[in-house]
Amino acid sequence: MIRYQRLGYLALNVRDIGRSQAFYRDHVGLQSVGGRSADVRYLRCSDKHHDIALYRGAPGLKRAGFQLESERELAPLRRALEAAGTPVTDIPAGDCAAMHHGPGLRTWEPVSGATLDFYAAMEPSDAPPFVPTVAKIQRLGHFVLRTADAAATARWFTEVLNFRISDQIDGAVTFMRCFPNPLHHSFGVGNGKGKNGLHHFNFMVSDADDIGTSLWRLKKLEVPVVNGPGRHLPSGSMFLYYLDPDGLTVEYSFGMEEFPEQGARAPRVLPPVSKSFDIWEGPVDPRKSAVGAIEQSRPGVHA
Ligand SMILES: [Fe+2]
Repeated sequence: MIRYQRLGYLALNVRDIGRSQAFYRDHVGLQSVGGRSADVRYLRCSDKHHDIALYRGAPGLKRAGFQLESERELAPLRRALEAAGTPVTDIPAGDCAAMHHGPGLRTWEPVSGATLDFYAAMEPSDAPPFVPTVAKIQRLGHFVLRTADAAATARWFTEVLNFRISDQIDGAVTFMRCFPNPLHHSFGVGNGKGKNGLHHFNFMVSDADDIGTSLWRLKKLEVPVVNGPGRHLPSGSMFLYYLDPDGLTVEYSFGMEEFPEQGARAPRVLPPVSKSFDIWEGPVDPRKSAVGAIEQSRPGVHA
């Protein structure tokens, strides 16, 4: 049974890494830190080396990294992927070095081709400790993809990777936790209606006031706020979605249901009505989640 610690980091492709580095540092509230690769800008909101790695590319997801509970998880993970017929390879040494983590495995989500890396330990940064600035960010929370066959993606995450479903909005989105991490979801997959993409990614904040103050702070900066403030029914999170300089959708959220390792409640299937997405039923700007390519790196596949 494969066990995880948490969502480790997200590597994002952006058009201008300097511009995005400044946005995530000054307006989102991450700490910019140095790192081994000159091609990457590293930012963090934790004691990890980084939580976000910015690369130059078509705006969207380059790669997601999950931190396993220990290196012992690598062997059963490889067996599970091979048994499922999913391509799997060692993470190239250059990427391990650039991401400041130890050896690991790379695979590709079968529907969207999203690159997923799994490793056990990331080196600490020698930067001073992360101190929250404009928002009291607790952690990188989750990311959500939309895929052309979301049911198949959810099945692969549960049956092969040992993720657990926390809730579903029928036909629309499945929220999953990386077992035994207690957070309601570290990953979600939405119905892409025939398309694949990065839907959004999330930073959890420690105070409801961060949602309200960020709304007005971002509006003053003319950062497009595209949904919220609102409250998700499935996780109970209060949320605010806004756009980064490339139009990628970023979320702050406050509060989230947590699940015990043993005896967790059964997943719910909620009806696909607006109250299931947002109890407060606020408007959604059509720019939400409109941008978000998924980089294709699977062997033999070219974007
Ligand atoms: Fe979210």
